[in-house]
Amino acid sequence: MVDRLSYAMIGGGIGAFIGEVHRRAISLDDRATLVAGALSSTPEKSKQSAAQLGLDPDRSYGSYEELFERESARDDRVDFVSIVTPNDTHYPIAKMALKHGFHVVLDKPATHTSEQANELASIAESNGLVCCVTYNYTGYPMVRQARAMIAAGELGTIRKVYAEYHQGWLASDLEVSGQKQAAWRVDPKRAGLGGALGDIGTHAENLLAFVTGLEIQTLHANLNSFVPGRALDDDASVMMQFTNGAHGVLTASQICIGEGNGLTLRVHGDRGSLWWRQESPDELRVALLDQNPVIYSRGGAGLHDDAAISARIPQGHPEGYLEAFGNIYKGAIDAIFAKRDGHEPSRLAQLIPSIVDGERGVRFVERCVQSAKKNAQLDWA
Ligand SMILES: NC(=O)c1ccc[n+]([C@@H]2O[C@H](COP(=O)([O-])OP(=O)(O)OC[C@H]3O[C@@H](n4cnc5c(N)ncnc54)[C@H](O)[C@@H]3O)[C@@H](O)[C@H]2O)c1
Repeated sequence: MVDRLSYAMIGGGIGAFIGEVHRRAISLDDRATLVAGALSSTPEKSKQSAAQLGLDPDRSYGSYEELFERESARDDRVDFVSIVTPNDTHYPIAKMALKHGFHVVLDKPATHTSEQANELASIAESNGLVCCVTYNYTGYPMVRQARAMIAAGELGTIRKVYAEYHQGWLASDLEVSGQKQAAWRVDPKRAGLGGALGDIGTHAENLLAFVTGLEIQTLHANLNSFVPGRALDDDASVMMQFTNGAHGVLTASQICIGEGNGLTLRVHGDRGSLWWRQESPDELRVALLDQNPVIYSRGGAGLHDDAAISARIPQGHPEGYLEAFGNIYKGAIDAIFAKRDGHEPSRLAQLIPSIVDGERGVRFVERCVQSAKKNAQLDWA
């Protein structure tokens, strides 16, 4: 019989966005079953959402507090919890989950403050628990190829990095229409310190760090709120100096009409360059010094192991967002099995983003906001 885990979901009820993506991503590998949930912000809607998903009414909870209390008392308690609520609730929910001994998969940005993220990291560490943060773009095979090529020195010393995440869906005041996803994202009490910076700039920061391994030494941020009435940025530009002497530019903007999910990474070393675009994720363009650029394809020959083990179907059949998200869950589930059974984590488990990455993302937002307020270059440390 196949060994399976069980999980609960907090958030992701009727009308929510990312919860359903998480459920689909998990189902790709069919190694975990959703058996419990506190799926919405009100008990009524939570139960209605659970009924729609066919959950046992006995494990359909009105709140996350009730879920942790009652699941903890069961012999067949869930193995892990997926937290897919708006940002302001991540910290209390994840803290309670970890304190009750549940492994956690948490969406980004991890918390409102870096102190909170540090606290979650230390609870997870001392309780021997996995706390994965779903920076899902690191699950793409060609992102893992880019990382492996840089780690192997194929581009030489990295000199310049451009990371951008551009969207257009908040180019007008969508929030006043009551659109749920827009409404909480522009509210500082719910979203946190960053607008576009926290929502998608953290993805760009994580992609840059995952692929290049570079560490920020100083940064200088410029934040704008172009749509009248917004308290948070809807557009961010950050210049960074890295500890190895490289320079970076990161832009995150939600007012770029015509952009969908324009997440792009360009890395230039002294021996070569690479380009990757989320909207064509199966391809990685690479140019070595004095050679013609070439396109590496997901599933093609000659890729590094981390890319090869992250592909699911043969070259030429497109893979995308859900498969990459599924790779994060595949690694997280491997990591949970490894903890449970006391064996070494698989390579996929070693590649997942953790709460330590989540903490760095929140610190990035904090530093950028401080820098923009002072209009000054700030040290990272
Ligand atoms: N990794 C990604 O690519 C990605 C993409 C989108 C969103 N996100 C993140 O996922 C989270 C959710 O975003 P979304 O766009 O799905 O939001 P959403 O508003 O569509 O959904 C949030 C859900 O959480 C529920 N909820 C709110 N408070 C709750 C509580 N106390 N208990 C239980 N449920 C509660 C809401 O009822 C809703 O079902 C955010 O942190 C966001 O930053 C990540």
